[in-house]
Amino acid sequence: MKTAVLTHSCDVDILARLHAASFADAWSAEWIGGLLAQAGTFACLTDGEDGGFILARAAGGEAEVLTLAVMPAARRRGIGTNLMRAAAHQAHQMGAEAMFLEVGEANEAAKALYARLGFAEVARRRGYYSDKNGGKGDAIILSVKLPLI
Ligand SMILES: CC(C)(COP(=O)(O)OP(=O)(O)OC[C@H]1O[C@@H](n2cnc3c(N)ncnc32)[C@H](O)[C@@H]1OP(=O)(O)O)[C@@H](O)C(=O)NCCC(=O)NCCS
Repeated sequence: MKTAVLTHSCDVDILARLHAASFADAWSAEWIGGLLAQAGTFACLTDGEDGGFILARAAGGEAEVLTLAVMPAARRRGIGTNLMRAAAHQAHQMGAEAMFLEVGEANEAAKALYARLGFAEVARRRGYYSDKNGGKGDAIILSVKLPLI
């Protein structure tokens, strides 16, 4: 497993392809490039376009995970955990003392990954997500202190 920490100079096309393989509302390369151009935003990429990436931002002593995606064929090999740990380390190096993220309550895979890293619920946005059957799901805000244990 090979992980690189990337700034705005990285290949945003790879990150966009990884994002599109995991999310219906795919982020364009331009959108990702725009995020990476913002102060404090960085990406970590594991195993190139066959692996996964995380996009995060550290500012004002706090960090936020903007997105995390692992290629379906590469899941359950520890890449998601590795990316979270790499981003938490990078954010802590940048002065962040806590990390926040948002996850859909129906996303059991991501919730299990975050729980294993020590994240705990701090807030909820009721009915924030709509599913394809017209149902509504909560967005859960999770947080953990940095550095990760
Ligand atoms: C969530 C996601 C990033 C996990 O990536 P991954 O590389 O498979 O994660 P890991 O291999 O590091 O898994 C770590 C642990 O998380 C839990 N986990 C991961 N996937 C799971 C699943 N499908 N079901 C239940 N638990 C799961 C397990 O505890 C796992 O440990 P184990 O494999 O030893 O049992 C990946 O499933 C993904 O890209 N999903 C689509 C995008 C998404 O939902 N992103 C997060 C948005 S908040």
